[in-house]
Amino acid sequence: MLVTLKAVVVVGLAALLCAVATATNGDDIRHAQQFTPLVAKESRRTLALTESGMITAVDVHDGYRNAHHLQFITMEPGSVFLPVLLHADMVFYVHTGRGTVTFIGEGSEEEIDVVRGDVYRLEQGTTFYVKSHPDPARERLRIHAMFGTVEGLSAGVYSNISDLVLGFDDNILQMAFGVSAETIRGIKSAPATSPIVPLFPSNKMEEPNWKEEIIEALFGVRGASDLVNKKKNKKKKSESKAFNFFKAKPDVKNANGWSIALTRKDLKALKGSHLAPFMVNLTRGSMMGPHWNPRASEIAIVIRGKGMVQLVCPSDASGKKIKGTAAAAKCQRAKFKVEEGSVFVVPRFHPMSQISFNDETLVFVGFSSATKNNHPQFLAGKRSVLQVIDADVLAAAFNVDSSVAEGLLAAQGEAVVLPNHRGGCAVEESWSRRAMEAGGDDDKDV
Ligand SMILES: *[C@@H]1O[C@H](CO)[C@@H](O)[C@H](O)[C@H]1NC(C)=O
Ligand SMILES: *[C@@H]1O[C@H](CO)[C@@H](O)[C@H](O)[C@H]1NC(C)=O
Repeated sequence: MLVTLKAVVVVGLAALLCAVATATNGDDIRHAQQFTPLVAKESRRTLALTESGMITAVDVHDGYRNAHHLQFITMEPGSVFLPVLLHADMVFYVHTGRGTVTFIGEGSEEEIDVVRGDVYRLEQGTTFYVKSHPDPARERLRIHAMFGTVEGLSAGVYSNISDLVLGFDDNILQMAFGVSAETIRGIKSAPATSPIVPLFPSNKMEEPNWKEEIIEALFGVRGASDLVNKKKNKKKKSESKAFNFFKAKPDVKNANGWSIALTRKDLKALKGSHLAPFMVNLTRGSMMGPHWNPRASEIAIVIRGKGMVQLVCPSDASGKKIKGTAAAAKCQRAKFKVEEGSVFVVPRFHPMSQISFNDETLVFVGFSSATKNNHPQFLAGKRSVLQVIDADVLAAAFNVDSSVAEGLLAAQGEAVVLPNHRGGCAVEESWSRRAMEAGGDDDKDV
């Protein structure tokens, strides 16, 4: 008797592991095999589209080792993004709207309110769900999420609750949850639903309470119960709060714009994260001076305005590919226009510069894949790394007179966020013209 019971438990356990390992989900990762510096908004893939919301996705490669998955989640007011179990770390930015994010870790459950400009990180292994503010007059809640690398990407970046549960045989579920056969059959025969649904379903009266039972049994908490009935059970507010870019003091700020890069000191939830969020705001006609990241690749999303991005191959300014290097490490030089919704990628060591047009600010939020402290290195301006090199040595490096080398570094009085000294309104035109001229030739890879 005892032996049989044990055997059943073992079988049940094996089935559980197996089901988790093979769970498929709707989020359809395409392994980005190749580095592409720019993904336009129109090129996003739609993963879900309902009256309550939409999820689109982009996959990028950082030019070195890592592929990253991004999701853009849009929720109408009063809807819920149903619980998912994260297979990868997730850092998210709240682009518009308001809502609450509830997350369930190992034995704990927390809830944070989020507003525009907030950024937060959820660890892999966390189960979370999101509710948008119910006021229909509110803006839609729009979340930009970036996921860390997942081992065995085929399993996707998350799986939903039905993915986790429904693969089991009825009798195993019945035994595991201690519920009746009818309850299990009720769950299994329910039609598949979409990942974003209205918060208060109209047929609330008919809502069977098995959903709640299952969720409670699954997570051992009463956490998700208000998903199903709108019972206002007060949840413990999280100690930790999201970090808000618009309420924070920028790291660098001058007349040309500002920039903020987050560390663990700014947001405790980043502890152990390989993704560090940042934001840059370039006022009209200014530039993020040419710089590179010694330890990180950058993936950024334009949230406002238009501009140009140039990135340079660190080993060959002519942009020629270095023969014999692995495809992922192919050296790239690129120059492209970005606008709201564009995603652009700058691999580690590639010097880059972002420029806003004269008639518009350019604002982008991003995630750098820093595994250790990354200190961007600037080429121009007061904080240029070239400033510490002896003028003679610098002159020799460029093979010019030392007066030329000195002049090169003396002219720029600002650091990091620089004015566009070329002035005029010619920037956009000349950039686009040159980009077009170059189109057939040196920027072929773009
Ligand atoms: C869960 O994912 C499955 C696909 O793996 C999908 O059919 C189902 O609709 C999803 N459910 C929700 C609530 O997202
Ligand atoms: C960018 O900075 C400018 C100037 O400080 C400000 O007016 C604008 O609101 C900022 N934009 C965003 C999206 O933060």
